[in-house]
Amino acid sequence: MSRPPLIDQFTRAGQAQVFAFFDRLAPEAQRQLLAEAAEIDLAEVDRLNRTLVLGRTAAGVNLAGLAPAPYEPLPARGGPVVEWDRAKAAGEVALRAGKVAAFTVAGGQGTRLGYDGPKGTFPVTPVKHKPLFQVFAEKIQAAGRRYGRPLHWFIMTSHQNHAATEGFFAENKFFGLDRARVHFFRQGRMPAVDFEGRIMLESPEVIALSPDGHGGSLRALDRSGALDLMKREGIDTLSYFQVDNPLVRCIDPAFIGWHVLRGSEMTSKMVPKAHAGEKVGHFCTQGGQVVVIEYSDLPARMQAETDATGKLRYLAGSIAIHVLDREFVRRMSSGTDGVALPFHRADKKIATIDATGNPVKPAKPNGVKFEMFVFDALPFARNTVVIETARADDFSPVKNAEGADSPQTCRDDQLRQFARWLKAGGVAVQTDPTGLPGKVIEVSPLFGYDEDSFAEAWGRLPVKPAVAEGLYLE
Ligand code: UTP
Repeated sequence: MSRPPLIDQFTRAGQAQVFAFFDRLAPEAQRQLLAEAAEIDLAEVDRLNRTLVLGRTAAGVNLAGLAPAPYEPLPARGGPVVEWDRAKAAGEVALRAGKVAAFTVAGGQGTRLGYDGPKGTFPVTPVKHKPLFQVFAEKIQAAGRRYGRPLHWFIMTSHQNHAATEGFFAENKFFGLDRARVHFFRQGRMPAVDFEGRIMLESPEVIALSPDGHGGSLRALDRSGALDLMKREGIDTLSYFQVDNPLVRCIDPAFIGWHVLRGSEMTSKMVPKAHAGEKVGHFCTQGGQVVVIEYSDLPARMQAETDATGKLRYLAGSIAIHVLDREFVRRMSSGTDGVALPFHRADKKIATIDATGNPVKPAKPNGVKFEMFVFDALPFARNTVVIETARADDFSPVKNAEGADSPQTCRDDQLRQFARWLKAGGVAVQTDPTGLPGKVIEVSPLFGYDEDSFAEAWGRLPVKPAVAEGLYLE
């Protein structure tokens, strides 16, 4: 093989080490390495090295002019009932017109959970142990039936989990969904660099590449052709949620309606923070735009600030649930006019090789990964809206193997939700003071996937079953 020009480009960019073992590799491995190298935008890496890696000392997030973002409170907390009703009606109109699609970001590595396989395949429900993907599939199917228009569902995967994710859906017959409406696409990857900005190798023939963050979903939607498909299908609104949160209302008409009525390009849900130090991002405003400031970037003193009534000033916590306008996503991914998501730096332990090609398993961070965050799109969006949601109805993620945000806490939150729905239907359910029922029960999303649909289905049941251990409503 004559010397590929890509090697010279890497050499000129000071990244010759990527090909240090090239001559010793078998032709197939050489091809693989070249294909991975071709994915890398050297100018982008150089810019990130200069801005984020070399000579950088502190995080340095700009806090000038920061204020808490306004949000639309729930009717139960004094929000305008008429406007919430109008929003719900507008969302239902959009759903009946087939203008909305669901979008799940499932490209993360799920390292904290430590589960072997795509996170969406992790079993979460209390009785049937349904995997996360099945819960969403059934909610999406049920919403499609309710509004008379089956929904399209976009699922972003990573290189690592793409084949396993597709295989899982195929094995499970797409959980009853029309497979022509389920669309998988891979997100982009970024190389890890060492603290001198040199692109790292995982092995002599493999570059240390990792997913480019959930913010990578915007350009991946564009590059994969998903935005064009949406346009052809008359879909202009994407309901965005994360793969780890089975409580999420994947399709929430009021949320969609606020977005539509305000002509918003990006609409987000907030929950009031549980306490000052809760580790969530904060919805803020800065220079007239909505921004999310991460908990690690907002000084503890500001997180603890209260207003005259004793309420936290920076109350609005981000739970990674958004509605996105299709053409806004296209604009964000085009990178024109300086409109682009910034990258963030994360120092990580990166499995690599030494100068002789022997594996190195570092005990402390030895390099930098670059990631984009989807909430960084907010300041670029027109007419942004933040609405309140009740945590109990929308948010209980599975992040960790144990403790907070674990399979156990998520299961309990699902049980509490099922018990609440039953109680609202007039059933006497025994619960502890936190609302946790004494019996393990489950409601299939195909029976009821939110308070309204549950109430309707329950009302239609000619014979109401008793609340017993293992009760499963479907
Ligand atoms: P997390 O921030 O929880 O990261 O992702 P993670 O990679 O899943 O888990 P850890 O940190 O390694 O334990 C939040 C959501 O964003 C998606 C995840 O799949 C999850 O739905 N995500 C994250 C992506 O789709 N791509 C990424 O590059 C990162």
